Amino acid sequence: MAKKTFRKISLLLVLLGLLSITSCSDTSSFDYVASTHIIPAPKQLVTGEGFFTLDKNISFKSIEYFGSENSYFSNYMQQKLGFNFETTNRDDKAQILFKRNNNLVEEGYLLSIDQKITIEANTQKGLFYGIQSLIQLLPFEHLQALKVKSVKFPRVIVKDEPKFKYRGMHLDVSRHFFPVEFIKEYIDHLAMLKMNNFHWHLTDDQGWRIEIKQYPELTNKAANRQETLIGHYNDSPQEFDGKRYGGFYTQEDVKEIVAYASQRHITVIPEIEMPGHTQAAIHAYPELGCTGLQVPVATKWGVFEEVFCPKEETFTFLKNVLDEVAALFPSEYIHIGGDEAPKTRWKSCAHCQNLMKDKGLKNEEELQSHFITTIEKHLNSTGKKIIGWDEILEGGLAPNATVMSWRGSNGAIEAAKEGHDVIMTPTSHSYFDYYQATYEDEPTAIGGYLPLKKVFGFNPVPAELNPEEAKHVLGAQGNIWTEYISTSDQLEYMAFPRMLAMAEVVWSGPTKNLEEDYDNFLERLEPFMERMDVLDINYANHLFNLEGAVVKENNEVFYTLSTPTKGKEIRYSVNDKKKLKYVKPFKISALTSPEAAKGIPQYVINGQVYKKGAAVGRKFSDTIDYHKAVNAQVAINVEPHPAYSAGGKEALINGVNGSNTRFGDKEWLGFWGDDLEITITFPEPTKINKISTRFYNANGQWLYAPNNWRAIITLENGSILSNKQMINSDEQIVLSEMKLDTKSYLTKQLVLRIPSYGIIPDGYQGAGNKAWTFIDEVIVE
Ligand code: ACM
Ligand code: ZN
Repeated sequence: MAKKTFRKISLLLVLLGLLSITSCSDTSSFDYVASTHIIPAPKQLVTGEGFFTLDKNISFKSIEYFGSENSYFSNYMQQKLGFNFETTNRDDKAQILFKRNNNLVEEGYLLSIDQKITIEANTQKGLFYGIQSLIQLLPFEHLQALKVKSVKFPRVIVKDEPKFKYRGMHLDVSRHFFPVEFIKEYIDHLAMLKMNNFHWHLTDDQGWRIEIKQYPELTNKAANRQETLIGHYNDSPQEFDGKRYGGFYTQEDVKEIVAYASQRHITVIPEIEMPGHTQAAIHAYPELGCTGLQVPVATKWGVFEEVFCPKEETFTFLKNVLDEVAALFPSEYIHIGGDEAPKTRWKSCAHCQNLMKDKGLKNEEELQSHFITTIEKHLNSTGKKIIGWDEILEGGLAPNATVMSWRGSNGAIEAAKEGHDVIMTPTSHSYFDYYQATYEDEPTAIGGYLPLKKVFGFNPVPAELNPEEAKHVLGAQGNIWTEYISTSDQLEYMAFPRMLAMAEVVWSGPTKNLEEDYDNFLERLEPFMERMDVLDINYANHLFNLEGAVVKENNEVFYTLSTPTKGKEIRYSVNDKKKLKYVKPFKISALTSPEAAKGIPQYVINGQVYKKGAAVGRKFSDTIDYHKAVNAQVAINVEPHPAYSAGGKEALINGVNGSNTRFGDKEWLGFWGDDLEITITFPEPTKINKISTRFYNANGQWLYAPNNWRAIITLENGSILSNKQMINSDEQIVLSEMKLDTKSYLTKQLVLRIPSYGIIPDGYQGAGNKAWTFIDEVIVE
């Protein structure tokens, strides 16, 4: 085997994120490049030459101050590798040395591996993060082999500190309950990724999950529901499992989890929802609601009208609950929810209306503000601060509140401009309960589409903030709502690898060059997946899959294939003809003898990725219906909503149909309340006799097909035909076809006018809000 030669790379290249050294390795199992990979990427990493070998009996020097970290690390090495620590007083004798360095920032550390391993930090936190990086430098294949006599570490110098102060993950344990052991594993994973906040969503309509001594019915009654919705909320009819479901954490459990997290420098922020998402609590104590009537613990998902009534006894209840919560959680923050609280009950409640008059409150939004401010005042008096979802801005923000911005970033912008701190969790980049891939066989999720790359590309600081305001952006977090996540395996599938991308955003800072940095991230993620195998994390792996796309150039239509990671081979076939190696985009219009389907030429493209000669990832298949608009130009009067625009306007005429079960893929386009005008211009006058398109109905998620649409057709002779098509269907996918009497005419341009459905009617989810329009392919025959 060749002697090791490692190219020393300059600090500059590392800082630019261009860590791409080539290397040879002295054993086939040791990949030097991969061995220096750390997620989240450190601020600086310089590789040295060769390895440092650590033996089974480690001579170790540290100080008392790092006591908790000393035992964390020595336990880790003992449990994972069977290595023993022997303490020494002498720096020169130590193989591992932990040192205090007052020049480093609070969470920063300096790790060097040369003739020994040294970690320097100013605080216990900083040292802990140094240990996490060191663990990642530990070759993962050893982590399952307790019998090794020594391990080799690459020689490196790492100088590191985080970009954001708040780095978090959320977990909803109300919709589904996760046991203490799993919560600890989740915390371990957060620690591995240098996250420092765990936002624990403990109460909601579907279950109250924390023991409160003064109110035993919260766990006797409100921790259980009669049954649970199965399948998707949009399924018609909705089905239920008929099984009682429940669970809660005792105060002892909570203390255990808080202590476990604290040893890992993670603050546990409890969320106690109010005034909405409280149907479970009102089930246990009906007097907390406006009507006083008994309601069940919710058995399906959504927003419910049973909310806390702002009366004296409710505030007494909440203050007592929050006093117990505050005593259990050392966190400076308590999250009080505040989201999605319908005002229906308050509007018809005599107490609420009188209270508004007494306090001079103009509307129910101001009553909500009064509610939150009352709670804030109490928590502030006990030394705590509140965090609330961005709805707490409505009717006026409580004076000291921190805002968690989830409905995009407008809430954050408004709050930061008012001088309040904000934490970013916009649905667009932070909702890991959304689909991460568009395949039909992904586990059922709530909806949406949030692929890994989009998380990686997140910039928590909204561009609208000036540098002074931007200081109020404490950081960001990934949210995991568990309506559709009932097992820990599925939870890990949704969390990983997106949690790694979020960790990189908040620790390493947002990328300034998405394509390049994402490639670098994937280069580190690929070996990290083997580490997650060893850790038994059920992550999603979409790294070896193929993506196909129709692209147009000079009125010609091409098909491109790509796969996210480098160094793979792609093989494909069209209409089951010969298998070819993919080298560049191929022209679809040049393909011969297509199968005719519905009179439309159809191309079926199959493909597969190969790694070192072996098939990896999933089999790829895409079908292109080469209808008459595929090589046309398309324009649209409004941009699709950024959250539902993955395929862009071209997706309207690319020959590819959207999913029959999801609207979050890159074929469906979503518009929120806009009337649409889609203009299709043909490269040459074209005979057309049928136009069809599809709309998505998912009323639970505010999606409504329009009531009608119109086609305006400009003929070659300049005359214009206008034709209206009615829609009267509540099918999930509405296929709307318009037959034309224009067989003998040539068409230059076609305009589709699609009015929005309008405002969501009373009695439906999202009543009073604008409905979404989701449209798929516009097929022209
Ligand atoms: C939320 O997703 N309702 C905060
Ligand atoms: Zn009331």
